[in-house]
Amino acid sequence: CTKMPMVCLTDFEEYAKEHLPKATWDYYAAGADECCTRDDNLLAYKRIRLRPRMLRDVSVSDTRTTVLGTEISFPVGIAPTAFHCLAWPDGEMSTARATEAVNTCYITSTYSTCSVEEIVAAAPNGYRWFQLYVYRNRKVSEQIVHRVEALGYKALVLTVDVPYTGKRRNDIRNQFRLPPHLKVKNFDGVFEQENSGLEEYGVPPNTLDPSISWKDIYWLQSLTRLPIIIKGILTKEDAELAVEHGVQGIIVSNHGGRQLDGGPATIDALLEIVDTVQGRIEVYLDGGIRTGSDVLKALALGAKCVFIGRPAIWGLAYKGEEGLREVLQILNDEFRLSMALAARCYTGSTDKSIYPNQSQ
Ligand code: FNR
Repeated sequence: CTKMPMVCLTDFEEYAKEHLPKATWDYYAAGADECCTRDDNLLAYKRIRLRPRMLRDVSVSDTRTTVLGTEISFPVGIAPTAFHCLAWPDGEMSTARATEAVNTCYITSTYSTCSVEEIVAAAPNGYRWFQLYVYRNRKVSEQIVHRVEALGYKALVLTVDVPYTGKRRNDIRNQFRLPPHLKVKNFDGVFEQENSGLEEYGVPPNTLDPSISWKDIYWLQSLTRLPIIIKGILTKEDAELAVEHGVQGIIVSNHGGRQLDGGPATIDALLEIVDTVQGRIEVYLDGGIRTGSDVLKALALGAKCVFIGRPAIWGLAYKGEEGLREVLQILNDEFRLSMALAARCYTGSTDKSIYPNQSQ
């Protein structure tokens, strides 16, 4: 049979939709309630237009950038998403290998179906951050923080938009659960003593602590020397609080529209946050990135780096490590082309010769 070339990220989306079991596809695709915010994450990019400049010698370009001082090959990392083994047999281990090969940042989800030890062993030289939730049982959070710190994770990403799980209609209709052969491996046995599962599907109800508040940032800082990044900020007020609480970065995120339906598209929330933060800490974004020009728009509006959630899963569903590498390569190629056609450059971490002698 002839192989159709994969040309853009939506080709991977179509493949995944066709080949994954319906309940799995629905889980990955889900947004909360009427999915307004999920859909607006994508539509908002289409309302933004670039101002391309001409005759600026774009013969040399450099997509490298830094996050928290570490160089990555281009400003697109992997957002934390649960249950990669539903998309590909060795799940997060493939994600780790692909991101190591491409040299970008992989934020490992708390709800991984491989353990953090397996993930690190699969790609020992990968650059990784760990996404954390705060549990009612603080010991559980403490233990995982110490575990990932010892394993060489470089930052903690505290997700703050899930005091409770959003209402995702198809998951309720499908009674979505992790199949019995898969586990949230990081917590093997931990919750069983308490006879509770995990918050998101097969993940025990009521394990996340909905009472967490800003003071818990100090608690987390007391546990670790790792930089802390808060994921799920959508307003200038909370961005200011994040800076005041001494964290090292924020991810402007609405959880891919899976939590509060009716909140803003992340690209629309970015500007007030960047204006408020004024470069005091790094500002990243996720949600709705599907093309290289989306990446360029986010960087033009002040994001240091963006992260992809669902597109990474589609890549895994297509061909595991190779599929995710292809997704990242296509995004990198598109981003490079958009930068050149717009003659705008927001990258080039070490080599300042890109588009030389041109003010932006
Ligand atoms: C997520 N997201 C998420 N976030 C997090 O902090 N911890 C998690 O375990 C998960 N799990 C998860 C599962 C699935 C299936 C999806 C789609 C998303 C949110 C994720 O990190 C990110 O914010 C969004 O996915 C970004 O939007 P896009 O790129 O999917 O449009």
